[in-house]
Amino acid sequence: MSNYHIKHLEEYYQVYRKSVRNPEQFWDEIAEEHFVWRKKWDNVLSWDFTKPEVKWFENAKLNITENCLDRHLPTRGDKTAIIFEPNDPKEQAQHITYSQLHARVCKFANVLKDKGIKKGDRVCIYLPMIPELAISVLACARIGAIHSVVFAGFSATALSTRINDCDAKMVITSDGSYRGSKTIDLKGIVDEALEDCPNIDSVLVAKRINSKISMKDGRDHWLQPLLEDAHQDFTAEVMDAEDALFILYTSGSTGKPKGMVHSSAGYMVYTAYTFKNVFQYKEDDIYWCTADIGWITGHSYIVYGPLANGATTVMFEGVPSYPDFGRFWDIVQKHKVNQFYTAPTAIRALAKQGTEYVDKHDLSSLKVLGTVGEPINEEAWHWYNENIGKKKSPIVDTWWQTETGGIMITPIPFSTPTKPTYATLPFIGIQPALMDENGDEIKGNQVEGRLCIKYPWPGIARTIWGDHQRYKDTYFSAYKNMYFTGDGAMRDEVGYYRITGRVDDVIIVSGHNLGTAPIEDAINEHQAVAESAIVGFPHDVKGSALYGYITLKDSGESRNHDNLRKEINQLITDRIGPIAKLDKIQFTNGLPKTRSGKIMRRILRKIASNETDKLGDTSTLLNPEVVQRIIDEKL
Ligand code: WTA
Repeated sequence: MSNYHIKHLEEYYQVYRKSVRNPEQFWDEIAEEHFVWRKKWDNVLSWDFTKPEVKWFENAKLNITENCLDRHLPTRGDKTAIIFEPNDPKEQAQHITYSQLHARVCKFANVLKDKGIKKGDRVCIYLPMIPELAISVLACARIGAIHSVVFAGFSATALSTRINDCDAKMVITSDGSYRGSKTIDLKGIVDEALEDCPNIDSVLVAKRINSKISMKDGRDHWLQPLLEDAHQDFTAEVMDAEDALFILYTSGSTGKPKGMVHSSAGYMVYTAYTFKNVFQYKEDDIYWCTADIGWITGHSYIVYGPLANGATTVMFEGVPSYPDFGRFWDIVQKHKVNQFYTAPTAIRALAKQGTEYVDKHDLSSLKVLGTVGEPINEEAWHWYNENIGKKKSPIVDTWWQTETGGIMITPIPFSTPTKPTYATLPFIGIQPALMDENGDEIKGNQVEGRLCIKYPWPGIARTIWGDHQRYKDTYFSAYKNMYFTGDGAMRDEVGYYRITGRVDDVIIVSGHNLGTAPIEDAINEHQAVAESAIVGFPHDVKGSALYGYITLKDSGESRNHDNLRKEINQLITDRIGPIAKLDKIQFTNGLPKTRSGKIMRRILRKIASNETDKLGDTSTLLNPEVVQRIIDEKL
């Protein structure tokens, strides 16, 4: 039996038991046998959730890119590492071998070094899904710089906030990007963002759409000529196990985005091990995750997890609807994709088109289907299972978070019997707990509570950049000695978990986490707005959509509400990005408040979701009369 590759259910239970009875010994073996180290660790794990502090593989030395690239060269040098599928299907796909990827990463690392980037510096990457994105991520890792990838759909303000929060020295971007039939002026967005970022010394610009852009003398450099001149060897920087590998921002319920910091060794071990098992990747398989590398799913399961296993990973630049809704299936057929990993929102959008596009394609290469990002509804699960998997490819409903680094609750395909809408069983080494309102653990099955994790796993984020106190407050204060996920979950009669959704003010729209506070802050900047409250409501494609209740300073009588709605959504687009736009905006005279003045979002949520029969007692509110008015005037 190999602990590294689980092949049936008894083996899962056996390995699982081992991993929780003696986690240190278990992870010691996995790390020892499946990775290359410059120096081994002195201690597998030390931890204290009250501080909180977690350290894995203490004092080990490594570079993650030696594990993702160099070690494969003797046996897989000519194997394709990355298949790049461009936005336009008429443009040829690129197959980048492990040797080529290694050379391109080394050249890029030399460019970074020439531009003064050193170990520990932060580099912000704002790129579309082109090979340079994966390459720049790996180049940062090779030189020991901490990458902070910002999804290229975020606005200039969102970008500058992130650049300044981690005090990045450099931005890597492109002239522009393709998105379906549109082009986006990425460099223009970067220029605008950098007006507020005094500490950026240099900007590297990849050419993608050949648009005319302005280059600031001394600051901006075209990437290609620098790469051409660079040397194709670069000795990887030796990193400590606990050195930060990257920062990735995620929305919280309040305040600015949280820069989650991930480690080098623990993150590597965890993403590689989960990738191997959750997708049952075999040597010649073609694996495709449709996420963007701007999100954690792309970091862990497009770049690091697959490459650490010497896999072939597909990077798709475009969107599922271009040139038509058959694009995903076209790519599956063209590259003979074996593992396909996507989000419920994409499945719902494609299911809406019927099976016409699906039926035109040969999907027989598929072996495993994955889903991630939000709870998958029953209908979408069955559509995926029947039409894409033809009932023979197991669906892995993988629950995890930016903070967890890798997949936490998931079936192991071909081992764990799946159940629609259930993420099923904890992954190896993961010890979940359901907690009640009083802070006690709910034992037994057929129960529901708040999902916590009792014991550290190697992939856990170590802190929030620059704000350890917030890390503690957000994740380790709600329940004693536990990591609190922010999600609710049910456990069924056999111990399967079903994630029921966020229990805080984070709303997941089309798989993107959005905190309500930053959106409300953006709205409140509008001169006509007095106050606002955002809640989520069910949406058949996006999962949840945003409903805004807004009070105006002059009651809005004299203003054109349609124009106001447009202006408000424009403000949100400018401050955060188009993903945070409101689907519905209701202007109201007042918002329901507690006697201490807190907005009662629970009530607003029920109204937005048409559940007015479940409002409960509203008589204790400061202003109970506004509730009926809001209901009467609902959109
Ligand atoms: C939600 C994405 C139900 C959950 C990897 C979590 C899910 C948040 C699932 C993290 C799933 C993710 N079933 N809900 N399979 N996967 N979620 O940080 O609410 O972008 O807390 O990480 O997405 O989103 P994040």
